[in-house]
Amino acid sequence: MCGIVGYLGHRQAYEILIQGLHRLEYRGYDSAGVALINDDCNLNVYKTRGKVSNLEQSADGKDTNGTVGIAHTRWATHGEPNDVNAHPQLSQSRSIALVHNGTIENYSVLKKALIQHGYSFESDTDTEVLVQLIEFIKITNGCSTLDAVTEALHQVEGAYAIAVIEDGDPDTLIVARKSSPLVIGVGDGETFIASDATPIVGFTDKVVYLQDDEIAVIRRGKPLQVLSLKDNKPSKINIQTLKLSLAQLEKGGYDTFMLKEIFEQPATLRDCLRGRIVDDCNRVVLSGVEINKDKFLNARRIVLVACGTSWHAALIGKRLIQEMCGIPVEVEYASEFRYSNPCLTKDDIVISISQSGETADTLAAIQLAREKGAFVYGICNVVGASIPRNTDSGTYIHVGPEIGVASTKAFTGQVTVLVLLALCVGQLRGTILPQTVHDVAKALTELPETIEKTLRLDSKIQELSRIFTYAHNFLYLGRGYNYPTALEGALKLKEISYIHAEGYPAAEMKHGPIALIDHEMPSVIIAPSDSLYDKIISNVQQVKARGGSVIAIVSKGNRAMADIADYCLEIPEVPECLSPIVASIPLQLLAYHIAVNKGKNVDMPRNLAKSVTVE
Ligand code: F6R
Repeated sequence: MCGIVGYLGHRQAYEILIQGLHRLEYRGYDSAGVALINDDCNLNVYKTRGKVSNLEQSADGKDTNGTVGIAHTRWATHGEPNDVNAHPQLSQSRSIALVHNGTIENYSVLKKALIQHGYSFESDTDTEVLVQLIEFIKITNGCSTLDAVTEALHQVEGAYAIAVIEDGDPDTLIVARKSSPLVIGVGDGETFIASDATPIVGFTDKVVYLQDDEIAVIRRGKPLQVLSLKDNKPSKINIQTLKLSLAQLEKGGYDTFMLKEIFEQPATLRDCLRGRIVDDCNRVVLSGVEINKDKFLNARRIVLVACGTSWHAALIGKRLIQEMCGIPVEVEYASEFRYSNPCLTKDDIVISISQSGETADTLAAIQLAREKGAFVYGICNVVGASIPRNTDSGTYIHVGPEIGVASTKAFTGQVTVLVLLALCVGQLRGTILPQTVHDVAKALTELPETIEKTLRLDSKIQELSRIFTYAHNFLYLGRGYNYPTALEGALKLKEISYIHAEGYPAAEMKHGPIALIDHEMPSVIIAPSDSLYDKIISNVQQVKARGGSVIAIVSKGNRAMADIADYCLEIPEVPECLSPIVASIPLQLLAYHIAVNKGKNVDMPRNLAKSVTVE
């Protein structure tokens, strides 16, 4: 987690760094800080607990001059969120400032050694150990700061993206990475660095994605220099063109990013589908699958690995692939898979699903899968992120930057790509009827309009949300394709409203959770008119018989449920395999309005961060 940003050029760095931190705040907002070297070559550091806006207030009126600087927004791992643990962290002499995204695993051993050499520590962070180590090496070896950073990075174990500046040297900015992302924006006489490309958008569209074990030196007036940390040899600099626009990073008139992202879904699904359904809806094309046709034809088994919301999408993917492609599928939490010594062969396909493409557990899971010889396929949103760079092939969901911490449009994009993938592989393997391909593909092309119609439920859901704002617990129930939808609905509610909610397969309820039902426990039932509809009706009766109130998500025109449930939200009818995409929309809106009614910050829920780059 954590976001880092840096600048060296001809403009005042402070405004650029603050704007960059705001764009990276989705990565963590426990504390924020900035270090600048002013016109007299003095290092100034300002940092504070809380959000970037707190930092702006505390730096107000202070010397924020300087054309080089680094900054940080934190998601706390080592040490509580307070001013002292905020980054930048400083070396003993207070002359080297460093910001860090990642975790130094051997920090306690290094710290002990430094204490023995007379070093003292102010913070509880692993980052302070790294910056102290750099200074220790610099003094002991009498070497340059660049050499000291390089040597220190040889000694640390773990993950890092770092940026370093030094008092008295306004002309140098050093950055390096291993397992945490870092992008360099190459402008005209100025250079930007950041954890992702968002702080760079609007300044330059030329970017270099620093690779693992690389260190880059940005010197005023000199070309960018990138070296391998392994052998100190220059690396090839691959300048790429960024395809992000400023409009994609702004709220566009909505109160929050989450609401914007919920309402954007007709457009994002249109982008996700573009060019992938051809021949009058008779064929689905995914180039990542087609160029690896043999792998999918000969697949013995598919393992889907993901975390959180992406794991819920994976559960839907399992059903889709098994039904349409006849391949056995397993779904694993990436965090469990990575330590499970999985049995994999070259005929297994491991598909990772990740919005950010930076989730540490998912990244480790695919690295393990590759080591074990499996073919690794990635479904990702962020173009050029670490996961797509570490897979054999893959498909982007193309839903644009998701900034709200709670995933919405990425979930519907992931499920849409999984439907496309199942159709495409099913066609190749001959395991799906052409008529089914046509019907599902046609419904997919109509999906943007279908979602637009579903979004019209918004005002009704807003009204409904008022009735349930102060509930303490919720149960979400679904079956078949919509059991994962229930899990996802429950997750949305808990993460932004802090109301406890559980998702359950509706029929499992009678094996335990039914004991929880009383008049204070509302249940949200996802019950579109599908093959399991009649079954779920009896599950709803069981809830009603025990005094629980029921909000039912049903297909348009359904009357039977209206007689039983307390509240019905009607969604357009779609093929069964697409119902999780449509049914998740009212669940997103319900969670959103309840959280807003409770006065919660839906874009930045407590304790969370958008990109989970730690274990
Ligand atoms: C919940 C949410 C998280 C992420 C999870 C995985 O709304 O966003 O549960 O789904 O942290 O993140 P990615 O998809 O980036 O790997």
